[in-house]
Amino acid sequence: MPVPSGYRIRPFEPGDLPTLQAITVETFGPVSIDRAIDDAFPGALPGSWADRKTQAIADDCRIEPEGVLVAVDAEGAVAGYVTSRTNSATRIGWIPNLAVGQGSRRLGLGRALLEACKERLLTCGMVVAKIETLEHNEIGRALYPSLGFVEIARQVHYIARLTDEAPQDCEGSEAC
Ligand SMILES: CC(C)(COP(=O)(O)OP(=O)(O)OC[C@H]1O[C@@H](n2cnc3c(N)ncnc32)[C@H](O)[C@@H]1OP(=O)(O)O)[C@@H](O)C(=O)NCCC(=O)NCCS
Repeated sequence: MPVPSGYRIRPFEPGDLPTLQAITVETFGPVSIDRAIDDAFPGALPGSWADRKTQAIADDCRIEPEGVLVAVDAEGAVAGYVTSRTNSATRIGWIPNLAVGQGSRRLGLGRALLEACKERLLTCGMVVAKIETLEHNEIGRALYPSLGFVEIARQVHYIARLTDEAPQDCEGSEAC
């Protein structure tokens, strides 16, 4: 799958992080497990789903920056990204996050990012690539099988609220 005309895919640069996080917050709301936790238990947690998700993107970029690929337009503006992790022991490559900003949707960028990511994982010696999607994410459920991903299992996420007290800062506490 070629990269859509006017766009290119390049390696992650540290200055990209705030834009990747902004695209994440713009796009992930309807398809975020963290958002579902906030909806089920409003105010229970100290931060919002967006805080937790932007931290997850920062973790992806810190843990394996070379696994992050960024799609940019002709002016160099970031339009989307994919993150990935390699594991030389299991040879399972993991693709934790993928997003394309609203203004660049449906041009083939998501597909091109995933293709480029699969290629990189193969080059790094991975034998399979793993990606997850929520059952109601119709885009993911159409896109991934079209790129050779085969459904192998379904998982149900449960959350138990452990206290009705307002969240407290537990930094420095021995119990934490
Ligand atoms: C998933 C996402 C990255 C796709 O980005 P994109 O650049 O718009 O995707 P593409 O243009 O490459 O489309 C690829 C395929 O996805 C599916 N798709 C894309 N948009 C769709 C829509 N609105 N409705 C249904 N299917 C859609 C189609 O199968 C499409 O293939 P086609 O154009 O040949 O029909 C983007 O929708 C996004 O950022 N979503 C929010 C975050 C997210 O869900 N990330 C994945 C978490 S599992």
